[in-house]
This record gives sequence, C-alpha cells and structure tokens, in this order.
Amino acid sequence: MPPLWWRTILSEGNSLNGTEKVRNVLRGLLQRYGTENIKRRLWNHEYRRGRWNCLDSMADDCVYTHIENHAKKGSILDLGCGPGAVGTELNAAAYHSYNGVDICDVAIEKARSRAEENGRTGKNAYFQSDILSYVPKQCYDVIFFGDSIYYFSRQRITEILNRYSKYLKRDGVFIVRTWTMKDEHQTIVHNIENDFDVVERHPYAESRIVVIVFRPTGSRREGAKKGDHS
Ligand SMILES: C[S@@+](CC[C@H](N)C(=O)[O-])C[C@H]1O[C@@H](n2cnc3c(N)ncnc32)[C@H](O)[C@@H]1O
Repeated sequence: MPPLWWRTILSEGNSLNGTEKVRNVLRGLLQRYGTENIKRRLWNHEYRRGRWNCLDSMADDCVYTHIENHAKKGSILDLGCGPGAVGTELNAAAYHSYNGVDICDVAIEKARSRAEENGRTGKNAYFQSDILSYVPKQCYDVIFFGDSIYYFSRQRITEILNRYSKYLKRDGVFIVRTWTMKDEHQTIVHNIENDFDVVERHPYAESRIVVIVFRPTGSRREGAKKGDHS
C-alpha cells in the first residue's frame, strides 16, 4: 500500500467536482509557469491552510535507504524539501551535511523548527528559493527531488538537471522519487532514462511510485565541467 500521504492525495484527486478539477488544472499551470512570486504565494497559501500537513511525517519512506546508501556519510541537497520530514527522518549517522531548498517560506520555517527540535541544526540548513534560480555553494554526493520534479515543464526539467549536474561530486548521483500514475510522470522517468546513466530504478506501491538513481553521462559531465564555476 502507498504511504498515508499518497493515499490522501490520491483520494483527494478522485473526489473533485467539475469546478474543482478546472481550478486544479489552473493551479497546475501556475505551479509550472507562474513567476517565482506567484508560485511562492500559492505554495505559502496551501501550506498555511493545511493542504500539505500529510507531509509532516513520512516515517519509513521508501526513498530513505537509497539516499542513505548514496550519501556515503557525505552531503545531500534536497530540492523542494517541503516541511522537513526527509532532513529529520533520515538516519543522522548516514550524512554529514544536508541542505533543503523550497520555494515556500511556511515549509522552510517548519523544516527549520523541526531540525532544531531534532538537534540537527549543526548538520541541516534550509533556504527559501525557487529551484530554477537557486545557486548551490558546493558540490554534493546526492541531489534529491522528492516529488518536486513534476512541477516543471519537460524542457525545464532538462535545463534543471543539466545545471545541477555541475553541483554533483564526481561519484555523486541524482535521486528522484516520483509517482507514476499519470502519463506525464512516466514520460519524465523515460526521459531521465534516455538522457542519463541510470544506477538504480525501484518501483514501489505496486509501481505507482518510482525511485530512480542516476548520474550525468560522461559527455554531459564533461560539458558541465567546461562551463563549471569551480
Ligand atoms: C509534493 S511536495 C514534496 C515535499 C518533499 N520533497 C517530500 O518529499 O515530502 C513538493 C514541494 O516542492 C516545492 N516546490 C514546488 N515548486 C518549487 C520550486 N519551483 N522551487 C522550489 N520548491 C518548489 C513545494 O513548495 C513543496 O514543498
């Protein structure tokens, strides 16, 4: 069975009436194509009214062991980190430093307080920013997108992954957890498989969720290095 928060989102989708469905489509367009300020306000509004409370706890999430194995006690960048479950539920001994980025101030505030409550302020740091404009200050062992990659158009996803490739350590990996219920989500996974070297691919919840671990191909890595900042 999918975890509780998946069931909440799935059942919500099934029970929408016509007007709500139209509103949902508009919401999806704003999440993808809105300006940074519009997206920020939209996500703040949704977090404030409790729509995403289901993300507060994700104990035993299927992605944790994959992040822990690939972090190799090193560094993690969590893009679209939400209210801080990943940064506090991962085994603290599995990583040295964790940076969470989210467009939503409300989520970032929650994540910061949660890290404080869990005694992780020495390891965890959180930044309010759009994934599109965030500029990392270091390279990472793991760059993770936890159900945050499908808030961008296909072309944007390619640009994002190419740009963040520069911030992976030599043996670093991207890890994407995404649901695959819709064709567009499956297309994202297929495109990743075509364009990157896939290290692992794990289906969960009767294949409704996939965790895919991948890294840039040799040529992409060289391309990224040429325009490198460091
Ligand atoms: C479905 S939630 C997933 C949260 C968390 N990664 C998890 O696995 O529980 C998607 C998150 O992505 C964030 N997000 C969406 N678009 C973003 C963007 N353009 N830049 C940064 N964060 C974004 C949202 O604010 C939200 O917290």
